[in-house]
Amino acid sequence: MAKDPGRVLIFDTTLRDGEQSPGASLNLEEKLAIAQQLARLGVDVIEAGFPYASQGDFAAVQRIAEQVGGEDGPIICGLARASKADIKACGEAIAPAPNKRIHTFIATSDIHLEHKLRKKRADVLKIVPEMVHYARTLADDVEFSCEDAARSDPEFLYEVISLAISAGASTINIPDTVGYTTPSEFGSLVEGINTNVKNIDEAVLSVHGHNDLGLAVANFLEAVKKGARQLECTINGIGERAGNAALEELVMALHVRRSYYNPFFGRKPDSPTPLTAVRTEEITKTSRLVSNLTGMVVQPNKAIVGANAFAHESGIHQDGVLKNRLTYEIVDARTVGLADNRISLGKLSGRSAVRARLEELGYDLTREDLNEAFARFKDLADRKREITDRDLEAIVSEQVMQPEARFQLHLVQVSCGTALKPTATVTLTDKDGVEQTTVALGTGPVDAVCKALDSLAGENNELLEFSVKSVTEGIDALGEVTIRLRRNGKIFSGHSADTDVVVAAAQAYVNALNRLVSSEKKNPIHPQHDVVQANL
Ligand code: KIV
Ligand code: ZN
Repeated sequence: MAKDPGRVLIFDTTLRDGEQSPGASLNLEEKLAIAQQLARLGVDVIEAGFPYASQGDFAAVQRIAEQVGGEDGPIICGLARASKADIKACGEAIAPAPNKRIHTFIATSDIHLEHKLRKKRADVLKIVPEMVHYARTLADDVEFSCEDAARSDPEFLYEVISLAISAGASTINIPDTVGYTTPSEFGSLVEGINTNVKNIDEAVLSVHGHNDLGLAVANFLEAVKKGARQLECTINGIGERAGNAALEELVMALHVRRSYYNPFFGRKPDSPTPLTAVRTEEITKTSRLVSNLTGMVVQPNKAIVGANAFAHESGIHQDGVLKNRLTYEIVDARTVGLADNRISLGKLSGRSAVRARLEELGYDLTREDLNEAFARFKDLADRKREITDRDLEAIVSEQVMQPEARFQLHLVQVSCGTALKPTATVTLTDKDGVEQTTVALGTGPVDAVCKALDSLAGENNELLEFSVKSVTEGIDALGEVTIRLRRNGKIFSGHSADTDVVVAAAQAYVNALNRLVSSEKKNPIHPQHDVVQANL
């Protein structure tokens, strides 16, 4: 049996596999904010990125290693293909963290070997021990993954895994890269590895999986029963294509159904010891932060973090819940930190009150960021009577962490109504302070604003998604707008909040344009789609 830490280790890959979702790219400040929140959430490992991808990715992993990976903090991990250059960059990027890990991988399925890598099985058997051994010269903690393991020949997997462990890998990860497997098949694969790999007791068995058939979480839970002790997952389940296994669903399944899973850990069913180290009360906040910063909107019926997950619409349900919560509710909203949306501040609150509440909410801002957040707070307090925690979160996540802005929205003005053609006047300032104004007509006020912004930025973008959501209840609530646009096949998102949704839409569009412009400067390597030419 694989090494058993006595509970499930949560390996969060929101900043690596999650960021591989189309349109979800994050800048350095945003990655840092998410990593800090993941540390508060209590994950065991943060996969902070793929350092070889670009200078920006390297810098982000390095900053997270410097600032988030404290002595008692999470392990900071970087991804590297099985190549010396990747592994070297990874080792350098994670170096500042006291607890650090190199995660290296190579594909093991025949379909990947033949069509992607153009290698033979014998090549893989040579590369794996060499690269794991090299990684161990840079970090004591090395994880090895067999990409597309779920479609690999199990006998070949046993051989590869055994070599990786002998070369020094202390975590072996089994990915279902294309989300193809089913729970019983995946459970059997994990069981087979536990039975047939002779040195498996020297490593922790981990699983990683995508949600193409909506089975990722179910597959992982079956794997846990067969001895998997590390789960690789993302917040809100974001990730390539249909996404990765959702952290919040796994953690809450293991929390709510602890007595069912306890015996698989050699515990009595009623043992109260948690099965993960995650602080469940931080789940909602983490979900919102990731959604706001990546622009990946959470579907309302999403388990645990969707807007409807704890809403009891029907009269029958409400009656039952009022009599006894347990009739229709298996999770108390407070367990995931939902019920707490205190009205905290108002027009007369000062800077120190705002700072104190932000600190209580877990936001430790720099002086400049705090000044900016306070200015935004004052502006909002003039328009909205009571400022809630959700409002403060919207202000911080939206305004303070903008990418290095090429364009600033200076003015937006619209005229529309039953008798008017929707017309927008927009002024943008570029980074040299030069102002440009234009006027555009549209099918509606938002369309007119986007057309005006496109013409000023000299772009022709396709608006893929425009979603508006109210932050809190009430007529004076902030409206949160998320925009996704496409240019040359690439997707970019922008997010903003304002009491005026047209202003929020304009700002969200400008944020997306700024991301688009900054991404044009870099052309990051994709860890799975771009193939290593030589193992140098
Ligand atoms: O899906 C996958 O196989 C991966 C590996 C790189 C772990 O993301
Ligand atoms: Zn993946």
